[in-house]
Amino acid sequence: DEAGLEALCDASDVEEDTPVRAELRGEAYAVFLVEGRFYVTQDLCTHGPGSLSEGFVEGSEIECPFHQGKFDIRTGAPAAAPCTEPLRTWPAQVVDGKVCIDPAKGRRAA
Ligand code: FES
Repeated sequence: DEAGLEALCDASDVEEDTPVRAELRGEAYAVFLVEGRFYVTQDLCTHGPGSLSEGFVEGSEIECPFHQGKFDIRTGAPAAAPCTEPLRTWPAQVVDGKVCIDPAKGRRAA
């Protein structure tokens, strides 16, 4: 069911060590590729002004470029201080070569 899906970026633009920032109606998202699967989180760090798409990917974690806190890309869960609040994440799907999400289906790890 593709109802509600909206394209964020070309799948071919996302590399394992190079996340992509995408905007949809004023919301900023970070698109990641981990072990061949796409993941989408909010781009803004929950700790401060860091843009996670400009951070450093280490395996399945993203290190925020601002204070070097970390999150699990797959779940949005905080993985290293000073990050304590989980990120919102969206299930990602590739349709016609584009990474797509349903913006209404964001969730936040417990
Ligand atoms: Fe991301 Fe502080 S803004 S760790």
